[in-house]
Amino acid sequence: MSFSNNDKPPVVLPGRASTDLAREVCHQLEIPYGGVESKNFSDSETFVKILDNIRGRDVYVVQSTHQPANEYLMELLLLIDAARRASAERVTAVLPYFGYARQDRKDQGRVALSAKLIANLITVAGADRVLTIDLHSGQIQGFFDIPVDHLLAGSILVEYVRKSGIEDFCVVSPDVGNVKLARNYANILKAPLAIVDKRRPRPNVSEVMAIIGEREVEGKNVLIFDDMIDTAGTICNASHALRDRGAKDIYAFAVHGVLSGPAFERLEQAPIKEVVITNTISQHGRELPAKVKLLSVAPLMAQAIERIHNHQSVSDLFKMMSH
Ligand code: R5P
Repeated sequence: MSFSNNDKPPVVLPGRASTDLAREVCHQLEIPYGGVESKNFSDSETFVKILDNIRGRDVYVVQSTHQPANEYLMELLLLIDAARRASAERVTAVLPYFGYARQDRKDQGRVALSAKLIANLITVAGADRVLTIDLHSGQIQGFFDIPVDHLLAGSILVEYVRKSGIEDFCVVSPDVGNVKLARNYANILKAPLAIVDKRRPRPNVSEVMAIIGEREVEGKNVLIFDDMIDTAGTICNASHALRDRGAKDIYAFAVHGVLSGPAFERLEQAPIKEVVITNTISQHGRELPAKVKLLSVAPLMAQAIERIHNHQSVSDLFKMMSH
């Protein structure tokens, strides 16, 4: 990689949520892995210390805010604050996965607009800009009054499909809210689209009501695309309904593998041949079900950091997905 100011290449500082990814990004950028000490005191308070001199440097704090979401969020805020107070020239908060993104609207009375609050906290902590991947809804960018570079990792999934040799398939959106994204995949892969009409009677519980475009599914391989797999209820319920409607091999694709609660068990039992996710969320050495395949976003993220550092356009990186 090349930097316009070779005396001062970017500095990548890892939070504990994203050490593996940050290490891979540093390797791609051919820069040293940033030294950070992060720990918790006996009362659970978090302590962070940046180990190298970052005065006048372009700093990227890499931290996803998945489970334990509150702890990782706090560590992210403290790292931004530490970088700011250590006189970094510019601090970019890099959230490969932006937790709390699903709480992005007041859909019932007296609830918090959590995604907006998180955006405020990141800004107040001292971030100059944000780099993130596949926000649950693109509008969350508007919660920030600082620049947001919103990467789309779909091209990584598309490339995987193209190389996999899967043929005669139909793309499925596992819920109505995801249709725009799934249609995008269907257009790029030149495949028909079907939509699962999912209802959520309560949080983390999903039910399939109907499949719109059922005829596209029968006798075909099926690729389900979602932005994330959390408890895996959405994707697994969809897979059962699709199998009932005569789908052949079923594949599930998602950028973020949250994989909380019963996810592993559900994925193992579901009629899904392969589950493809990326490493925006570290699995911290957990042994994934054999059918889960992990792809890396490190090259995409490294290119984005290189471009931001060099004041070049970032949107070229995900042209394919931005329709
Ligand atoms: C919903 O709007 C999202 O796009 C995902 O479909 C959902 O969050 C996945 O959650 P779970 O795996 O728990 O059903």
